Amino acid sequence: MEQKRVLTLTDPVANKTLALPVMTGTEGPAVVPIGNLYRELGYFTFDPGFLSTASCRSAVTFIDGEQGVLLYRGYPIEQLAQHSTFLEVAYLLMYGELPSARQRDDFTHTIDCHTMINESLKRFYDGFYHDAHPMAIMVGVVGSLSAFYHDSTDIHDPHHREVAAHRMIAKMPTIAAACYKHSVGEPVVYPKNDLGYAANLLHMMFSVPSEEYVVDPVAERALDLIFMLHADHEQNASTSTVRLAGSSGANPFACIASGIAALWGPAHGGANEAALKMLEEIGDVKNVPKYIARAKDKDDPFRLMGFGHRVYKNYDPRAKVIRAACHEVLAKLGDPDDPLFELAMALEEAALKDEYFIERKLYPNVDFYSGLIYKALGIPTNMFTVMFAIARTAGWVAQWMEMIAEPQQRIGRPRQLYVGPPRRDYPVTD
Ligand code: CMC
Repeated sequence: MEQKRVLTLTDPVANKTLALPVMTGTEGPAVVPIGNLYRELGYFTFDPGFLSTASCRSAVTFIDGEQGVLLYRGYPIEQLAQHSTFLEVAYLLMYGELPSARQRDDFTHTIDCHTMINESLKRFYDGFYHDAHPMAIMVGVVGSLSAFYHDSTDIHDPHHREVAAHRMIAKMPTIAAACYKHSVGEPVVYPKNDLGYAANLLHMMFSVPSEEYVVDPVAERALDLIFMLHADHEQNASTSTVRLAGSSGANPFACIASGIAALWGPAHGGANEAALKMLEEIGDVKNVPKYIARAKDKDDPFRLMGFGHRVYKNYDPRAKVIRAACHEVLAKLGDPDDPLFELAMALEEAALKDEYFIERKLYPNVDFYSGLIYKALGIPTNMFTVMFAIARTAGWVAQWMEMIAEPQQRIGRPRQLYVGPPRRDYPVTD
């Protein structure tokens, strides 16, 4: 990587200077490597929430939050959304290039070969109450995979890593659909490999052994689109969790389970579920001003779910794509006059006009719309974040593989600013 500029850091008290050669990537702001800071000057850096910290070097995904740009391996998300498919995007993220026709067929075949799950794994579901949150089941079941697939847990073997990645991408829909079936008390449906990735998931969720089920092509395309949009997003909380877990040498299945746990939170992947619940709570267009006022009130913890983003301080490019798809899906599959959709549009409009949201650059994000599409597809609210996890698995495995292959890879070990009591002695009473 080219090094052009040097920043100089001076500590006037210790009378020491440190020259920091600036590093530039192919896109985005330059970075200042501060790895020597403690050794040379005796300081740690302090950046809670990683607002200015690049935690790694990566060639997978690029985001320009100011311009509203998202690139997977250099390709703009809008172009991928228009021309690609989720499995092709998963290949792109993993291997760095779009597949040839032959590579695409081979990859699809490989994924198809891994869609089944071990029969013993199915018994895990019986241990959960029918009303268990599906994300809780996902964390447990995915975490247990290393107990079944020993032949792909040697992280130092590139073939093992690749097989583990294929397994994760292939099995996530099967595991997720089984969560849903458990919650509704229906038998688990096996994958049907002549169906596409998204269609197979719909088949496993909504078909029953006693009836013929035909996947609606509009539903299939909408789900595939959402999966593409959610496939990766640079060093977000769950991806960073996967990387941090992986940096200790943990097996890939355990790492992905940790990513699922991090994704669950309402500030991250749980936002799509929270956004829909919020719309249901608002209930009517006439209540929009009241909820906008609540979101602005600093004494009220209420926030507009599905609004704002840590990185995008312009419109979320995924939200632009999905907003159009949302209209199409609701027109074809849902009730075009769905009050929730009308309410969502009214809320979006009100927030976009409001000084508070304009000043803070708070725009609707991808999760504001994905929940509405899921609802139109008949997917229950508590499965929304599971859908996100299926899609993000492509990014997690790509980022994990990149990290393990990095020659300078070492365990992630942040430091801290200690603010507890200084050293003190245990009170000994005579
Ligand atoms: N509603 C009302 N006010 C908000 C919101 C919101 N959704 N988001 C941020 N703000 C305000 C916040 O109160 C603060 O105001 P002030 O400057 O007066 O103190 C200002 O905007 C900056 O907010 P922040 O919390 O410092 O921003 P952040 O970068 O730490 O948080 C966020 C980003 C996504 C966690 C936050 O915007 C949020 O909680 N949004 C709702 C949850 C959501 O939709 N999350 C999904 C993110 S997209 C999916 C994904 O990639 O995971």
